[in-house]
Amino acid sequence: MRYIYFKASLTLLVLLSVALGRGSIARAYPGGPLQDVTDAAPYCAGCHSSTDENQLRDMQGPRKQQMLASKHIAAIKAGTGNYSKLTPDQRNQLAADVQKVDDNAKVSLHVPAVVGRGTDFAARVDTQGGSGPVVGVMLLDEDLRNQARAIEAENLAIVGAPEVIGPDGKRQEQWEASRYDDFPRNLNFLVVFGIKADLATNQFSNTKVVYNLSAPTKPGKYTICAAFLYGTEKASPLGRVEVHGRTMPLGGFDATSGRIKFSELKTIEVR
Ligand code: HEC
Repeated sequence: MRYIYFKASLTLLVLLSVALGRGSIARAYPGGPLQDVTDAAPYCAGCHSSTDENQLRDMQGPRKQQMLASKHIAAIKAGTGNYSKLTPDQRNQLAADVQKVDDNAKVSLHVPAVVGRGTDFAARVDTQGGSGPVVGVMLLDEDLRNQARAIEAENLAIVGAPEVIGPDGKRQEQWEASRYDDFPRNLNFLVVFGIKADLATNQFSNTKVVYNLSAPTKPGKYTICAAFLYGTEKASPLGRVEVHGRTMPLGGFDATSGRIKFSELKTIEVR
């Protein structure tokens, strides 16, 4: 039921955006949620696909299958929706290209195993891959897609603006600089710019995000993981289309070509 409601609202959004020509959705999604300079949780990326079943372990049945990346790749091969514009050979090629983007997408989280209560420590998230132009990173308490919460929910505080190192190895301040006025810069959800993928030469972008965290004052074990949000289709020449001068995935807004991938879930002991 919720899904039907979701699909209905999605259709409405897409229609609205078509009606508006260069609608706000067209600016917000493929290309990243660039106007939403705030925290987010992975449930919001309702039309991204999950890269593995573990992040959907609370779900059963057909809905779970629909949310997996394998379903997106199967839709390309079957030529549903916009994929019918491609020949069978092109569809197989696009499916192989998307698979290659997924196989090369990586996210890892580096945190100390033990910290003193109330002390500051660094949490580093390394990413590789994504179609570009951007990727997204968040720090969460659990690796369950529809129920994970920002780590602040466990009293792990983010102190100051996280340091973002872009694919060129340089510090990026573009995202924090888009925060309004003097709003705090200690964001949990970050967009990293300058992402490119070259499937022919097997080259993918690497990024680093270093969060400065402050441990809770209550001793105990706290779980933490990173979510990585990225696109796939735009990496392939067959999966890119120009709409109003913007590069869009061939599948469109809701063909589930975006992805959600989690790092390993780590435990930090606060003493
Ligand atoms: C209406 C469906 C939809 C929703 C909802 C959605 N996305 Fe996406 N997202 C997409 C599509 C489509 C792409 C591009 C995928 C591709 O290139 O194949 C994308 C790509 C991205 C990218 C990478 C940029 C790119 O173009 O490759 C990020 C980061 C992202 N989304 C974050 C989010 C976040 C955060 C949310 C929740 C606030 C969200 N998305 C909600 C459809 C959606």
